[in-house]
Amino acid sequence: MNYHDIKLKLASEGVETADLEARILLEDIARIAKSEFFFARDKVLSEDISKRINDIIDRRVQGESLWRILGYRDFWKSRFYLSPDTLEPRPDTETLIEEVLHDHHSPKRILDLGTGTGCILLSLLQEFPDATGVAVDKAQGACVAATENAKRLGLENRATILNGSWFDPIPEGQKFDLIVSNPPYIPSQEIRNLQIEVKNHDPILALDGGEDGLLPYKYLCSNLKRYLEADGIVVLEFGVGQAFDITRIVEEAGATLIRVTNDLGGVPRVIKFRYGDN
Ligand SMILES: C[S@@+](CC[C@H](N)C(=O)[O-])C[C@H]1O[C@@H](n2cnc3c(N)ncnc32)[C@H](O)[C@@H]1O
Repeated sequence: MNYHDIKLKLASEGVETADLEARILLEDIARIAKSEFFFARDKVLSEDISKRINDIIDRRVQGESLWRILGYRDFWKSRFYLSPDTLEPRPDTETLIEEVLHDHHSPKRILDLGTGTGCILLSLLQEFPDATGVAVDKAQGACVAATENAKRLGLENRATILNGSWFDPIPEGQKFDLIVSNPPYIPSQEIRNLQIEVKNHDPILALDGGEDGLLPYKYLCSNLKRYLEADGIVVLEFGVGQAFDITRIVEEAGATLIRVTNDLGGVPRVIKFRYGDN
């Protein structure tokens, strides 16, 4: 088996990103560095490596994503380890990080609500070396994964991971100058129509945004102000087609819209706002 066989096998099973995934398998399982890849494409892999790759392909074609099988996903500048309780970080969420960096605002205290692997908070702490942060998740397993990721990235002294629902675990009186969140936003009825990779392997708690997919935003927007410094900023990710409703929810909560930003695919994806005239 070589790279061409892996790619062909994945493609023939309907995997759209067969080329990319074949390269990742070579890098991850056969330990062929990206820089050596060009010359190693025709190299015949050992029996042991071929078997491991075949086993992964078998799982892959059953509908597990490659990242779920490998147990990690790269996001922004780092690698985040997954657990069954964490969503796989998505490239769209990097738009949220870009939006935070956009105005050269330098937050000192960051709150990330629904942290999953910790990818948002930990990436922001890497960008802002003077900042500390708190991350909350209702899933205990996500908190364990986020804590582990914080340690691996050497950020455990600046990140506090708390288990509980939204603001519940935050000690009274704590305020933040940046609050971020990528809450669950899929309408409950639409979950069954999602790709198998998502509906069978991403945790339901990370997906289900209630009847209209907007429930977490309504709750968060009406409570955020209590936890935000007077000059604080909020940046939230939302789903495809939700820009109008989210903007309405933000404005009805008395906040001032700063901007809605598109992701790399040109789809409105992130909203930035503040409260009052600060
Ligand atoms: C869409 S996922 C985002 C995960 C991660 N921030 C990311 O961008 O990859 C939403 C996260 O919110 C968490 N969550 C859902 N309901 C919650 C609640 N009531 N309180 C706290 N976290 C919650 C889920 O467990 C999940 O980790």
